[in-house]
Amino acid sequence: MKISVVFGTRPEIIKFSPIVRECVRLGLDYFILHTGQHYSYNMDRVFFEELELPEARYNLDVGSGSHAEQTGKMLVGIEKVLQKEKPDVVLVEGDTNTVLAGALAAVKLGVKVGHVEAGLRSYDDEMPEEINRVLADRCSHFLFAPTEKSRQILLGEGFSEGKIFVTGNTVVDAVYQNLEVSKKKGSVSTRLGLDGHDYFLVTVHRQENVDNEKRFSGILEGLKLLQEEFGCKIVYPIHPRAKKQLKVFGLDANDVMLVEPLNFLGFLQLEANAKLVLTDSGGVQEETCILGVPCVTLRYNTERPETLEVGSNVLAGTEPKEIVSKAKLMLGKEIKWANPFGDGKAGARIVDILRKEFGQIS
Ligand code: UD1
Ligand code: UDP
Repeated sequence: MKISVVFGTRPEIIKFSPIVRECVRLGLDYFILHTGQHYSYNMDRVFFEELELPEARYNLDVGSGSHAEQTGKMLVGIEKVLQKEKPDVVLVEGDTNTVLAGALAAVKLGVKVGHVEAGLRSYDDEMPEEINRVLADRCSHFLFAPTEKSRQILLGEGFSEGKIFVTGNTVVDAVYQNLEVSKKKGSVSTRLGLDGHDYFLVTVHRQENVDNEKRFSGILEGLKLLQEEFGCKIVYPIHPRAKKQLKVFGLDANDVMLVEPLNFLGFLQLEANAKLVLTDSGGVQEETCILGVPCVTLRYNTERPETLEVGSNVLAGTEPKEIVSKAKLMLGKEIKWANPFGDGKAGARIVDILRKEFGQIS
């Protein structure tokens, strides 16, 4: 069995790391195909270094562009590599343009596709990610659903039962494998002057928020109100897309501490010790739930409803007063939820399923 692991962005590198580690441990025939969707040091390279991941055999260096331009370039590049390497299975993870291109290029060549994090739905077709995840599922032969809920969604859409495997989410593996290491590393909070302070951690990068002036300014106004109300520091490692849009709209982040995107170990430290996290990130909604940190999601929907059900997360949207009210709600809550995303062995489980399917083990 030959596996092609296709990824291109920060969350995919992080969430694929447990699978790649398992391939290395078992000495499997696999290779990494990096699309180059993310390319800045702190959105890409830093994760290879700190997670000690093997180098990608290919990097398509596709970079940024419109959705069609970016996805089109990836399709062309991925197809060439797959024709040369002839893998038995292509693995993609999540909902980015890289995922769509990897799944589509593979299925059209008759190569089997495995979608890690299958069956997530926001039911919001204005999100590019929703289109990507629905289409990737359609192209897939192996649907690795993180939870029973995502399995039920796939069954409800008519996917055959035999294609769906409930594995847990590899984000749990990534958190468990790296949390202890992160605690031993130098303290990010000392470096950022947060020691001895209560702080809130913010990440906002989603297209429908930061490319929309009203929503982005609503979020920033909400953060300002929070600072006035709670008097605590707010730290925002700002994604390059959001940084660009802040300038385009001429918005002011007021007293929010804007810092460059952090490495994973540093970010985990900050996340685990934050009083509250406010985010529009998918991965951060999951990680806060795993770490036992209350989360306010700056969106009107989520494809991670498990976090709402266990009570680790609440949807606030982007209206300033609603953000404050939801922050108060979460700060007043007792932290006693169970992690619904699995036991931290999803990576090994996924690799085992593939080995069985391809007759390597019985
Ligand atoms: C992409 C994913 C999103 C995911 C996010 C993870 C799609 C449609 N979106 O969004 O689902 O949550 O990655 O972070 O695939 N840029 C840099 N350096 C980089 C990468 C991007 O400066 O290394 C800047 C460029 O100005 C670029 C912009 O960020 O135009 C957006 O990058 P892009 O990859 O198109 O989308 P993301 O917003 O990163
Ligand atoms: N992350 C990080 N540094 C940061 C912000 C986030 O390492 O400064 C990690 C975070 O721990 C999570 C992942 O990036 O594992 C989430 O990625 P992102 O929010 O970019 O994408 P999404 O999950 O929304 O697709």
